[in-house]
Amino acid sequence: MIIAIDGPAGSGKGTIASLVSKKLNLVNIDTGATYRCVALEMLKEGVNLEENDKIIEISKNVDINLTEDSRVFLNKEEVTDRIREKDVTKIVSQVSSIEKVRENLVALQRNMAKGKNVIMEGRDITTVVFPNADFKFYLDASLDERVKRRFEQNKEKGIDMSESEIRDNIAKRDYNDMHKKVGALKKTDDQIYIDTSNMTIDEVVNKIVNIVKEGN
Ligand code: DC
Repeated sequence: MIIAIDGPAGSGKGTIASLVSKKLNLVNIDTGATYRCVALEMLKEGVNLEENDKIIEISKNVDINLTEDSRVFLNKEEVTDRIREKDVTKIVSQVSSIEKVRENLVALQRNMAKGKNVIMEGRDITTVVFPNADFKFYLDASLDERVKRRFEQNKEKGIDMSESEIRDNIAKRDYNDMHKKVGALKKTDDQIYIDTSNMTIDEVVNKIVNIVKEGN
């Protein structure tokens, strides 16, 4: 079974997918982490955003491992928290706009799901990676709410970003993510749309779990 979830930054995809995966016994695949790993590897190698060929090369060769307990390994080194930091967050949307990078990472993501029951979240999962998924959801929330959530989440993780920096970053990423030539974040008629602005995490999780249980 494949459950696909798309939505903008801060819509709750990561938290919700992780909780639903435990309730339904699915492997949780955070595709944003794969783009973040490529961005981090660029920073490590001193590659800048103009060096498309080098970025594409990195996306082809990096060794990315997402573990069952949601930890992220890049070339065997744990980077779970490192990939959420400001420097990576600032460049990742642009990195994900490079079409060849997307091709390489979409192939990797499909491979990660092979033969497994998965819940996969990102921006183009319902449209490009698994357009024939068993269930397709679009999670949304107002910009204010998403900024608030990301601020709280960063505080817990010890990431130092002000609310205005977060608002600016999310607004820019929203624009970029929705206007990519390939793999843009899109609302479609065949997704189940959930506005989580006024919902608790449990309410969203239960809604998704019930839909999946009823639909099976
Ligand atoms: O979900 P996230 O914020 O960790 O994602 C990081 C960036 O990666 C985001 O700005 C857009 C990009 N991304 C993408 O283009 N396609 C995906 N399937 C997942 C993420």
